[in-house]
Amino acid sequence: MDEYPFFFTWVKQSNPLRFSISSVDGVKLITENGHELIDMSSISYQASFGHNHPTIIKHMKAQLDTVPMSAPRGIFPGKIETTNELLKYMDKKDGKIFYTTGGAETVENALKIARDVSKRKLVLARKISYHGATMGALGATGDWRNTAHALPQDWVVRFPEPSEPDALAKTRQIILDHGQENFAAFIIETITGGNGVFEGSQEWWDGISEMCREFGILLIMDEVICGFGRTGLSFGYMHYNVKPDIICLAKGITGGMVPFGAVWVSHNIADYYMARVLACGLTNYAHPLGVAALAGVLEIVQDFDFQKHLEHISKVFKRELDIIQALPEVETIRSRGMLAGIDLNVDIQWKTFFDKGIHLATQNKRIVLAPPLIITEEELVEGMKRLKKAIKDMD
Ligand SMILES: Cc1ncc(COP(=O)(O)O)c(C=O)c1O
Repeated sequence: MDEYPFFFTWVKQSNPLRFSISSVDGVKLITENGHELIDMSSISYQASFGHNHPTIIKHMKAQLDTVPMSAPRGIFPGKIETTNELLKYMDKKDGKIFYTTGGAETVENALKIARDVSKRKLVLARKISYHGATMGALGATGDWRNTAHALPQDWVVRFPEPSEPDALAKTRQIILDHGQENFAAFIIETITGGNGVFEGSQEWWDGISEMCREFGILLIMDEVICGFGRTGLSFGYMHYNVKPDIICLAKGITGGMVPFGAVWVSHNIADYYMARVLACGLTNYAHPLGVAALAGVLEIVQDFDFQKHLEHISKVFKRELDIIQALPEVETIRSRGMLAGIDLNVDIQWKTFFDKGIHLATQNKRIVLAPPLIITEEELVEGMKRLKKAIKDMD
């Protein structure tokens, strides 16, 4: 037994990947002995607006003074306004929102709704993907966390990654082989995030959209990482001119200030439930603190100065990534907006990054960067300088 009475996630409990957080300051984490880390991954892609954004805190504090506890069917001040504001920001006023407590719960509800409205059982999921740690979301996930558990998988059918030769033709064949009438939905991370930042081409998205139309398959976009500005636009799917039927939101939706998530469904799906029971619910449905934090996030992301900043800082990020690309230790970099996957040809020690003063997400020989969107140019350049030094030290 170690000294901690709680578990750490996704690691052997003897694993030393842990650090203290004594305080936070914008994009910085400060440990108990005063070591300062620039957060280059927004913790786990959720702290998109830094660690203590005053606008989010202001909304949450005001909520604590009015209606602080959950009441799933209660309509408290702000619930209607904030939801309408979210729909406006998504440019999806014709649909409806189902609130949740996080990414996995969002994906669970999206999957249940898709299967319910279509009366079909099978779901097409990407071979490389992450959708959350609950049974259904992990069942759809395509990585080691899925194989670590013997999950019921009879409802999941894997389709080829966009980079595979003849990916679209093979996908179509898979659908025909299983019977097109059996497929409820595709579930797709708009850009595969935590597993390395893999994007499909416009042609691939057109092909997927075409199959959805032809076979009556719903398109569930998992925007848990890509939503709220991460890839440079408000939502990742906006890069490809696709029309999702269901959109999964979490993480950046509250900037990680409170566990929260949301499922957007199209007008048709919303309409379906007017005369039918929506058999979905949570005790903490539309938790007022989540709604309040979302109101703060919407205030931030719709501000013109934030949008100008995001455009500028994305260019700075790309410029800095190009410098890193020249290092002999770097194999490939894939990036979109403020999200980047860097594949190295050397083994990674997370501790080296920590010692150099940066916090980031790593996976074998891969780094995934997702700096807070509010990071200043100076902080970003400093973070990238520390990253470069750390990569050189891995040799
Ligand atoms: C794309 C994606 N979907 C869903 C999830 C699950 O979110 P949560 O950890 O909030 O349950 C994650 C978490 O990393 C994610 O990256």
